[in-house]
Amino acid sequence: MTLQFPSYVKHARLRNWVQEMAELCKPDAVHWCDGSQEEYDQMCEALVQNGTFIRLNPQLRPNSFLARSDPSDVARMEDRTFICSLSKNEAGPTNNWMNPREMHKTLNKLFDGCMRGRTMYVIPFSMGPLGGSLSYIGVQLTDSLYVVVNMRIMTRMGRAVYDVLNGEGQFVPCMHSVGMPLEAGQKDIPWPCQKEAANKYIVHFPEERAIWSYGSGYGGNALLGKKCFALRIASNIAHDEGWLAEHMLIMGVKNPQGEKTYLAAAFPSACGKTNFAMIVPPKAFRDEGWEVTTVGDDIAWIKLGKDGQLYAINPEAGFFGVAPGTNTKTNPNAMKTIEKNTIFTNVALTPEGDVWWEGMGPAPAKAIDWQGQEWTPDSGKKAAHPNARFTAPASQCPSIDPEWENPNGVPIKAFVFGGRRSTVAPLVFQAFNWVYGVYYASTMGSEMTAAAFGKLGEVRRDPFAMLPFAGYHMAAYINHWLQFGRFIPEPPRIFLVNWFRKDADGNFLWPGFSENMRVLKWIVERARTRAAGLEMSLGRVPQYKDLDWRGLENFTEADFNKVMSIDNEMWKNEILSHEELFIKLYDRLPKELVSVRELLLSSLWRQPEWQDRDE
Ligand code: GTP
Ligand code: SPV
Ligand code: MN
Repeated sequence: MTLQFPSYVKHARLRNWVQEMAELCKPDAVHWCDGSQEEYDQMCEALVQNGTFIRLNPQLRPNSFLARSDPSDVARMEDRTFICSLSKNEAGPTNNWMNPREMHKTLNKLFDGCMRGRTMYVIPFSMGPLGGSLSYIGVQLTDSLYVVVNMRIMTRMGRAVYDVLNGEGQFVPCMHSVGMPLEAGQKDIPWPCQKEAANKYIVHFPEERAIWSYGSGYGGNALLGKKCFALRIASNIAHDEGWLAEHMLIMGVKNPQGEKTYLAAAFPSACGKTNFAMIVPPKAFRDEGWEVTTVGDDIAWIKLGKDGQLYAINPEAGFFGVAPGTNTKTNPNAMKTIEKNTIFTNVALTPEGDVWWEGMGPAPAKAIDWQGQEWTPDSGKKAAHPNARFTAPASQCPSIDPEWENPNGVPIKAFVFGGRRSTVAPLVFQAFNWVYGVYYASTMGSEMTAAAFGKLGEVRRDPFAMLPFAGYHMAAYINHWLQFGRFIPEPPRIFLVNWFRKDADGNFLWPGFSENMRVLKWIVERARTRAAGLEMSLGRVPQYKDLDWRGLENFTEADFNKVMSIDNEMWKNEILSHEELFIKLYDRLPKELVSVRELLLSSLWRQPEWQDRDE
């Protein structure tokens, strides 16, 4: 087929690529997305017609839709995610690798004719504000209309991208197909995809800066601007260009004096980034003038400015947030963000035509579950899938920061890292310095969640919350952090948190959510003032008296000591599992990590009671 190019698409290489891909995929038609509201509305209506979308009750949830995915296509597939660098060692031991020439052969076969009977959509998008100095452009080709409308919320998508790109600009080509061509006369289904896990491929070619994704229509597998581009490919670009592409939220904290502190925090998937980014401080804090604002909830691109400060942008334009557990107490700002113009995927549908999920509030007497089946509270199954998500414009968030679209970013004063640990890791501590901070971030452990297929609850090492997202050798990535720190005149402070400590009966020891503000206040004050503090084996810690307990007086000093406790014997085992990671990363492990481990052991390793000493 010979394509008709819109006159505003002047980029010769882009035209050639789209032509070539259309010849490979053999769609019935090509649609050049303009990103307009009319186009979006028409596409949503077409999705309703196809049965992919259910329009929610416009009184209760204006301009919002529910999609139910195929049960085989509900989360990221780490087993089917590949980093196809030229050499296997570049991908490193934590990524799946295949020879790029072999992989291209495989993909060429899979994509040959894969869009028959469908339309190929051309999605031009910018990660970061259009034309911003920290922004990058991608173009995704896809046969999924669901992907197109999600990309319009999650990125700056539309015609204006071509103006920025002009005739010569760089763009990351992103190929996507659900892998279900339609024979002549064959009727489409609501959620086309490849059901077999082995038939799904999420592939990155780091040297080519190219992405190919086949067989899945869900989340990070299919919205290629997000994990594939803004983390896996961008981490490669960042490594080469000397900046950071991170799985981090960005937030601003204003104290009663009106001083604003921005910080970035990395927690693994479904471990509370969205919650923390949108935190509403407890009443006593609000009354006094504390205010928290949101810049981003998932990804941060961070560069060193000419003034020696770090500046971060959120490359995304929307939130793709975990629905279950979200309610007006745990995250009121998210609840307001998703009041309208929102796409819900895999949540339950109420008889009134609204959405519901576990942990949203009182259960409806009956509902249709995420698989389209009748559901009642005693039907013994979940109404929403645990990884059900909402897609909503960031601009609708009541706590959105006034600077969130500043193309030059916001200045970052602290980094926070935290996993989901029911034992071992204390509520909060501050690393002694950048190198210690890199050690703790590198060895971070977290219990696995439903955000990816895997063993739920099992602790795994998730360095920097980037295990599934670093697009090259994990040890080289860690070393990049160490090298990067050497250029910063006054590196941001690094803090470690854990909201998820439990007692022996499995109850959370820390109330979490808005109460995390008490920890955040301590962090921000220390990031600003560089106050010293009590030095313990792992780092610097607050004492009970150092946190602000107004409004939470029933949380006692004994409760605090429990959630802060550091068990030396458990920590020795913890360090053994750090060692496992280090052996895995051995060939490129920065020597600093081995030194810090020794120092850490020497501060944890205690002689028995001093009284027992021989005189
Ligand atoms: P991705 O979008 O997957 O990268 O994840 P995220 O880090 O943005 O996850 P999100 O904020 O959506 O995490 C949601 C999960 O974390 C839910 O299970 C929440 O209940 C839980 N969570 C968030 N904050 C807290 C907290 O302070 N305490 C406890 N106990 N759970 C929390
Ligand atoms: C994550 O898993 O970290 C997500 C969701 O943010 S997805 O975009 O599906 O990867
Ligand atoms: Mn994420």
